[in-house]
Amino acid sequence: MQKLIIKGKKELSGKISISGSKNATLPILAASILAEHAIIKNIPLVKDIFTMVDLLNFIGLKTKLIKKNNVIEIYNKSKNINTLAPYKLVKTMRAGVLVLGSLLTKYKKAKVSLPGGCAIGTRPVDLHLFALKKFGAKIKIKDGYIIAKARSGLKGANIRFPSISVGATENALLAAFKAKGKTVLKNCAIEPEIIDLIKFLKKLGANIHVKGRSISISESKKKTSSVLHKVIFDRIELGTYMIASTLLAKKNLVIDKIDPKIIQREINILKKIGIKIIQKKNSIIVKKREKLKKISITTKPYPGFPTDLQAQLMVLLTQVKGKSKIKEDIFENRFMHVPELRRMGAQIEIKNKTAIITGPTKLTGAEVMATDLRASVSLVLAGLIAENRTIINRIYHLDRGYESLERKLKNCKAEIQRI
Ligand code: EPZ
Repeated sequence: MQKLIIKGKKELSGKISISGSKNATLPILAASILAEHAIIKNIPLVKDIFTMVDLLNFIGLKTKLIKKNNVIEIYNKSKNINTLAPYKLVKTMRAGVLVLGSLLTKYKKAKVSLPGGCAIGTRPVDLHLFALKKFGAKIKIKDGYIIAKARSGLKGANIRFPSISVGATENALLAAFKAKGKTVLKNCAIEPEIIDLIKFLKKLGANIHVKGRSISISESKKKTSSVLHKVIFDRIELGTYMIASTLLAKKNLVIDKIDPKIIQREINILKKIGIKIIQKKNSIIVKKREKLKKISITTKPYPGFPTDLQAQLMVLLTQVKGKSKIKEDIFENRFMHVPELRRMGAQIEIKNKTAIITGPTKLTGAEVMATDLRASVSLVLAGLIAENRTIINRIYHLDRGYESLERKLKNCKAEIQRI
């Protein structure tokens, strides 16, 4: 079991380059089933991506991952496609459930393992199945698998989601791609990663229009079977490093390979706390700040404050004077980082779904345990600002979603190593 050892209080300086978005790459890999040939660039080399590629290979696609260029080339010309997503692959990477929409709309059947829960919640897929049934799919659950059939193909539908779900919106978009006739989806998630998936599907010939939380999809005449796409940057990785630089930048830290407009909301929230951010075309400069202001915030679907940045923001707020509040309104159990941060000296109490953070508090290094992807990176941030040494166990959680985290931080003078 690998660990990270961090020596805290090192000032950071230099430049961090942001990788491609894991949460855009995963649905786009699922969408590559709909193409005959796809070249996808700027993909992050993280565990979840490798698992999704394993799943595509298992289904029968031919993939060529060129790691040194962060590019993958995918061919789907085989006749014997295996429309099965097995438990062993889906259990470690829940987004495997996204192949359901692609397989169903193209091959009229799919057998996909129920993804099961994870540390942050039960993670149901009822909204995914609700949408697919509206397209005319026959769905049954048997032995932990979703068995979906649509003998005469899927039919376009008008679907209003009862609640906002990123994954269910993505599965519905994939299903709509080859559904007969027009589809209108309402009350959709509209995260930048979904807009990137829509760009990919448009390159494959779909007519898609987004208006507010409504998305309409219709087949277009000009069908193309080959697509080239560059995945957007990872806005959660960006937010993580913006928080790190605020806490530790010597003077300032440059973060590049991004489009600041896409995360203008998150930037505005961090500016409200007092973080000094200078925006350039493809980069931002974050200046070290002493005076930060307390804040009360609730996690919301985009364009609200992302739940995936909640743990990282919490670490920042331990250094801010006064009582700040974060309400976690998306997942039922996403405060696992709190007991670990408390062991490092943070003053955080939880009332219902709200964490109340009293700052500023001096954090001291400790041996801690990662529990889920974003909680583990919040422990890295805490280790960077704490006195002495922090040892983080179970860092396989980190490897699922952060490409070359130690290398990027070491390049900015952090003292961090993996053993
Ligand atoms: C996506 O998960 C992301 N994962 C998550 O990032 C992210 O936290 C989440 O969206 C919210 O932004 C990927 O994109 C691979 P949801 P997803 O469906 O699609 C409930 C990370 O750290 N719900 O928007 O699973 C659900 O339980 C990961 O990279 C249902 O009730 O999120 C949750 O409470 C963690 N029924 C809420 O909706 C359903 O059928 C939002 O979930 C589906 C979801």
